[in-house]
Amino acid sequence: MPSNLPAMPIRDESKKMDVILDISNVTVRFGGVQALDDVSFKVSEGEFLCLIGPNGAGKTTLMRAVTGVINPQSATVRLAGRDISNLPTHKRVRMGLALTHQIVRPFRSMTVLDNVALTAGHRLISRISRAMISGNRSDARKQARKYLSLVGIEDVAKQRVVGQPLGVAKRLEVARALALKPKVLLLDEPLAGLNSVEAARLANTVADINRQGLTVVMIEHNLGEVLRVSQRLVVLDNGRKIADGSPVDVMQDPTVRAAYVGKERRYVAA
Ligand SMILES: Nc1ncnc2c1ncn2[C@@H]1O[C@H](COP(=O)(O)OP(=O)(O)O)[C@@H](O)[C@H]1O
Ligand SMILES: [Mg+2]
Repeated sequence: MPSNLPAMPIRDESKKMDVILDISNVTVRFGGVQALDDVSFKVSEGEFLCLIGPNGAGKTTLMRAVTGVINPQSATVRLAGRDISNLPTHKRVRMGLALTHQIVRPFRSMTVLDNVALTAGHRLISRISRAMISGNRSDARKQARKYLSLVGIEDVAKQRVVGQPLGVAKRLEVARALALKPKVLLLDEPLAGLNSVEAARLANTVADINRQGLTVVMIEHNLGEVLRVSQRLVVLDNGRKIADGSPVDVMQDPTVRAAYVGKERRYVAA
């Protein structure tokens, strides 16, 4: 894997980090269900933040509200200082928010390379058909190769997506997100379904990408990997933020432990 990501500045550890993503007062109700209740937190530039919490806590809903996929009852979202709360999703994406989904949805009959080239060629999901017929395809492919090698799947670039193992599909999703040239990479359970070896490898890849300067917000259930790679944890439970801090502090917090007990017992040991 190459060691430099051209578009991204190398993080200067000595510099005080600026807030890149400021999420405040996010409240979401689905009918009678209060999915999120006044959730706020800030993400610093260059940070690797993991968003955790039991199933149904509201993690995915929060990311959907932040990217404008759903309309929250209230929410203020600032990206690099600009209020993007009222922008449609494609504008938020263009301004630098890239969200991968829990469900991997590439164009299965196309090659791995073309899937990334499409995104690189246009950087606008809403205009994919135009990207396919427009020029600059070789340039987009060159960029796509760079992203594929960053996520470690350059060797299957010419193969069709259909039939690829889940590990490749997950990496492809990250490559497509990188092709959007985001300021913040939002990942929703990228390790789900992978075996422990593959999960550790993909977590390492994401950590590498983060070390090269890209801010990462990762929703993840695999607490072992979360604790290994993240710098900060935000914990949601029943739509509320119940903790925010260093992984060690957060995992020792009795409120956090209580949130997991009885719901997802297997995570308590981590
Ligand atoms: N589109 C929706 N319509 C109705 N309820 C929803 C919808 N999306 C999520 N919910 C509910 O909101 C809560 C939070 O869900 P979700 O954000 O998916 O949790 P998590 O990602 O933390 O597992 C759950 O109670 C879920 O059933
Ligand atoms: Mg979810």
